[in-house]
Amino acid sequence: MTVSVGIDKIGFYTPSLYLDMAELATARGEDPNKYLIGIGQSKQAVIPPTQDIVTMAANAASQILTPALKAEVAMVLFGTESGIDNSKASAVYLAHLLGLSPKTRAIEVKQACYGATAGLQLAADYVRVHPQAKVLVIGADVARYGLRTAGEVTQGGGAVAMLVTADPQILTLDMVSSYHTEDVMDFWRPTYRTEALVDGKYSTNVYLDFFKTVWADYQQQTNRTIVDFDAFVFHLPFTKMGRKGLRQILPEAQPDQQKSLKAAFEASQEDNRNVGNLYTGSLYLSLLSLLRHGQLTAGARLGFFSYGSGAEGEFFSGILQPNYQRGFDGAALTTLLAQRKRVSVAEYEDIYRAQLSNDSRDVQLPVGEEVAQYYLAGRQNQQRQ
Ligand code: CAA
Repeated sequence: MTVSVGIDKIGFYTPSLYLDMAELATARGEDPNKYLIGIGQSKQAVIPPTQDIVTMAANAASQILTPALKAEVAMVLFGTESGIDNSKASAVYLAHLLGLSPKTRAIEVKQACYGATAGLQLAADYVRVHPQAKVLVIGADVARYGLRTAGEVTQGGGAVAMLVTADPQILTLDMVSSYHTEDVMDFWRPTYRTEALVDGKYSTNVYLDFFKTVWADYQQQTNRTIVDFDAFVFHLPFTKMGRKGLRQILPEAQPDQQKSLKAAFEASQEDNRNVGNLYTGSLYLSLLSLLRHGQLTAGARLGFFSYGSGAEGEFFSGILQPNYQRGFDGAALTTLLAQRKRVSVAEYEDIYRAQLSNDSRDVQLPVGEEVAQYYLAGRQNQQRQ
């Protein structure tokens, strides 16, 4: 008998500071509607020096792990492209912070924004073979370009934590998926750089081409067509990107279905519009946003397009489960976003410069930053505290 496997729980964390995109546009001499409509972003998470991928992941994962569940986690797969160490996996720091059993495998997975999807699919395959096992999959990043660059409006950050199990509460994952990899220089970050290098327009074209390729291959493999889907969830580096992706396939649907797919997309982009790019976590924040704001019923088939520059794309699908609302805390996310404090453009620039300092003194909390459950207090003897 085939075991049904998928996402049982989702937790999310983003720091308590944000930048208003209309204010950033004005400061950069742009029409605010370029950022609000043309790019499709309203707010952007600002990541203080007290938060990095490990602390953000711990803040997200602690929401979904009870003490009993912690004892059952067999593996941590940590997707990120904002690694804090070239050798030690962030998953090892995370497993320690969460108090997981030493009998846990803990590794980092890297392929740009695709890393969490790689983690999710590897986790699902592992649980299919070991149905008692629970796997913690993380997508945590700080999306960082440069001050006054075209990419600046597409920054953001945060972490998504997913628990992958047999008989999941939220979504069962199909075994069939389509993936595509090509060596493409659309976005990359050599180890000597703290900001990404990007060929912006080219990257958006590669994203759309890869979506076309994997969607066509998926349909051929499964004999499914757009009619079989209730919603599509996209990697959202900025919300306009997913909107363009959806537009590519909407003509394949009848007018009524087009309307409901568009409504589902609006729901799926709402939280991303207020947080910005999470790189690895963006697709899964978009799933959470759809679950929170969409009108879905159990049994709905959701299609997912994951994209990581460099480049790898994957299309896969899953079926929404009857108790999906129990797998996440929507009210906590509403509170987290509502309680964030707005910083000015000048404050954001100061925090941006402080964020990746290698200074070994205590890390200072920026004005207005709340201390989260897990935070980076500083570095001593080259070790994170
Ligand atoms: N009102 C409304 N819309 C306006 C406007 C106004 N006043 N002014 C401009 N616009 C529209 C433009 O028409 C354009 O819309 P379309 O894309 O629909 O044509 C949109 O605003 C953006 O304008 P530009 O193309 O002029 O924007 P830009 O040159 O400043 O750069 C960008 C946009 C290339 C996305 C840039 O932000 C960037 O390089 N971002 C980082 C790269 C990125 O996110 N790539 C995505 C694919 S790669 C990926 O997905 C992996 C990942 O996470 C990085």
